[in-house]
Amino acid sequence: MIEQLLDRAQSYVRPIGAQPPASRLLAGRTVANLFTEPSTRTRVSFELAAKRLGADVVNLEVQLSSRVKGESMLDTVYTLQSLHVDVMVIRDAETGVPATVAANVAPHVSILSAGEAHVSHPTQGLLDALTVRQHKGRLDNLSISIVGDIRHSRVARSAYHVFSALGVPDLRIVAPPALMPEPGEFSGCSRHTTLESGLKDTDVVMMLRIQKERMAQAELPDADRYFANYGLTSERLSTARRDAIVMHPQPMNRGIEIASDVADGPSSAIRDQVRNGVAVRMAVLAEVMGSRGAP
Ligand code: NCD
Repeated sequence: MIEQLLDRAQSYVRPIGAQPPASRLLAGRTVANLFTEPSTRTRVSFELAAKRLGADVVNLEVQLSSRVKGESMLDTVYTLQSLHVDVMVIRDAETGVPATVAANVAPHVSILSAGEAHVSHPTQGLLDALTVRQHKGRLDNLSISIVGDIRHSRVARSAYHVFSALGVPDLRIVAPPALMPEPGEFSGCSRHTTLESGLKDTDVVMMLRIQKERMAQAELPDADRYFANYGLTSERLSTARRDAIVMHPQPMNRGIEIASDVADGPSSAIRDQVRNGVAVRMAVLAEVMGSRGAP
């Protein structure tokens, strides 16, 4: 299924500057973006993906919605259901929200996760896999290093899931001990506490932001020290394979986890990730809605 979604997503990729794809597959359907955590790329790309498939889109700004008046998430969801929303795209800081909503809506309503707490971010995983596939052709002979705040990262967990499923033979997590996940997690990955061993001869370097919002103040690493030990500079990148690519889900903290010249440099695939985000979300929307009959 992952490969099928990636193939479909690839068919929606266009060069920057070209006309984006347009389809009527979701004409007459309504997609609601229900985000209670900040988002730029994920929300905008779900919106553009839905529109490029011909759907109507509503964006719920949580500050404006009734949740600030104490309305529960499920009441909001039932309201959207009554308004003939077919797909709800949900991002929330609490664990379990997409599953709870999915268990309570009418069967014709589809729920897509746009990021669940620290647990998962499935469409990010797909766009990361698509980006690697575009640059490297195949995944079953690669070394991939995921670097930074693995412990609190839903991006890392979905990357682990998708890269493992696609047979990446050398998957590494690289983090200071305090930002490593629990021992039972990320099984099959090698664990590295230095960039020296974590980046050596790797094909893909995926950098992560420190998830300040999921940590107590006292747990926060010092930014300068963090950059000195774990920041990706061009010198450190030179220990990876010569054709290694650099990825980052964004938002980036330049000068903390990544140096600006690396983020904007020739090895960076970061803007490809953003472009691929729309294509992947189109593929997922088409998959959940495309097989349904006319509305
Ligand atoms: C990430 C997220 O929200 O999980 N951003 C994204 O969706 N591209 C990563 C992050 O916030 O660090």
